[in-house]
Amino acid sequence: ESLNAMMKAKGKLYFGNIVDTNTLAEPNATEILKTEFGMFTPEYSMKWNFIQASQGKFTFDNSDKVVDWARKNDKQIRGHTLVWHQNIPDWVDAITDKANLTKVIENHIGKVVGRYRGRVYAWDVVNEVFNENGTFRNSVFHRVLGQDFIPLAFEAAHKADPNARLYINEYNLDFPGPKIDAMMNLIQSLQSKNVPIHGIGTQSHLTSNKTVDTVPAQLKRLASTKLDVAITELDIRLKRPVDDAKLAKQKQEYELVTRACLEINNCVGVSMWGVSDKDSWIPSTLPEFDAPLLWNKKFERKVAYKGVVGVLGNP
Ligand code: G3I
Repeated sequence: ESLNAMMKAKGKLYFGNIVDTNTLAEPNATEILKTEFGMFTPEYSMKWNFIQASQGKFTFDNSDKVVDWARKNDKQIRGHTLVWHQNIPDWVDAITDKANLTKVIENHIGKVVGRYRGRVYAWDVVNEVFNENGTFRNSVFHRVLGQDFIPLAFEAAHKADPNARLYINEYNLDFPGPKIDAMMNLIQSLQSKNVPIHGIGTQSHLTSNKTVDTVPAQLKRLASTKLDVAITELDIRLKRPVDDAKLAKQKQEYELVTRACLEINNCVGVSMWGVSDKDSWIPSTLPEFDAPLLWNKKFERKVAYKGVVGVLGNP
């Protein structure tokens, strides 16, 4: 039985993962994506610099491939991501005029969300807006528009697809501190202004033996907003050298995180950020870590996979 089917049997919407042209070209990965998961986040092809690298020139080739694959395989899509400080083309970064940037954001979101209207379950409308200390991260959006870029983005997305679930997505909400405090304040303020926001994506890029134990309490705190919550980019990195003891610990940690979502009504699902340790973003970006996922570099199921099945399979 697939992870997705077991998650749905527990009353959740999905167990998801990322997909993109790289993994679609890898039969081992595609096979597992097809059989185990039900919700897919494009790893990069819907990001601004892939879609509108130069002003007015939209390239949907790769994102169309991903959306078509999902539809053909009866899967759902989480759109990722509309407004983010990374992967922004220089022509956007250089904007200093408020009216111009407003138009550019509304046009980008209108075109991208409009193209997939009715075919995307949820959008990560804004991604990673906070610094670790809870202040707003420096980006062209915040520099030029202050916090107003956030409701602007949500309103534009809602106009382009009134049925898509609209999320704010963030990392390091997994432990207490100024970042989750800032997120809670922002959500409260958006809700008080009736901004069309429906969910909070907590990425949960976790470090084994460090940032895992606090996940359940933090997820509960986010869920207290009454919005949907979703774990959107789960991986649990191990400090090199990887050994059986660390892999056994990782199993327990995947069990704890899976259980955390099961136990919260408005947690709609869990999405991983990768299938095989071979393809993870971690080793190349954080070289002192490795082996964050459920399948090893040879696409064999790790003990952590069995841990998740154990939690999902339990009546
Ligand atoms: O495919 C192009 C290739 O044609 C080109 O020659 C090459 C050089 O520019 O770039 C390739 O695209 C790369 C893409 O990954 C596919 O490998 C981009 O440069 C590279 O920036 C991109 O990295 C992605 C990164 O976000 C930045 O967008 C990673 O795959 C992706 O795992 C990572 O995911 C992020 C989430 O979006 C947000 N949360 C954190 C997470 C991890 O950083």
